[in-house]
Amino acid sequence: MAQGYRIAVFASGQGSNFQNLLDASRAGGLAAEIVLLVCDKPQAPVVERARQAGVECFLFDPKAYARREDYEAEIAEKLNGLQVDLIVLAGYMRLLTPVLVEAYAGRMINIHPSLLPAFPGKNAIGQALDYGVKVTGATVHLVDGGMDTGAVVAQTVVKVKAEDTLASLEAKIHAAEQELYPQVVSWFAEGRIRVEGRKVKVLPAP
Ligand code: GAR
Repeated sequence: MAQGYRIAVFASGQGSNFQNLLDASRAGGLAAEIVLLVCDKPQAPVVERARQAGVECFLFDPKAYARREDYEAEIAEKLNGLQVDLIVLAGYMRLLTPVLVEAYAGRMINIHPSLLPAFPGKNAIGQALDYGVKVTGATVHLVDGGMDTGAVVAQTVVKVKAEDTLASLEAKIHAAEQELYPQVVSWFAEGRIRVEGRKVKVLPAP
């Protein structure tokens, strides 16, 4: 396991991915430690999860700032102070500016509940169901300045059955995300990721 690899999780909502990463980390199933939760919704359930677990939180109200760059500069300072190696977006529903995107280029990942580039943006699971696709899934990608446009690191396929509802498909995709995300974070922590343009390679385990 990588010694002292430090991650910050950014989330806006329920925090099931946050909880899963935390549980994996504490059970020794993740080669990284969560040192900070960043959240733009101080009332979100993910904040209570972090508090229960004693994880430091940086909470902010975007409306209290004139520009997105202003709160991101504060976040960047916090991340520097904590010597964060990787930013892990997990249901963080805000676009990022160059303040964080450039400072953490190649060191910031997001999970999205579809097989990108299909169904970017909000309500990806509903979009896939409405479109009638037979397979969808989860994607982990590097973060650039666009909406779900960064280079793909890993994807998991989930079959869509005729009888699937939004709730049943969501449950299957969340289960897939919970397998995928700790795996990808561990690859980063183990230094096994190589980025060449839009191609991301995972080196074999030593
Ligand atoms: C996850 O399904 C994640 O893929 C999605 O939000 C959910 C957060 O759930 N992210 C996006 O749609 C980003 N565009 P959680 O708060 O329970 O981890």
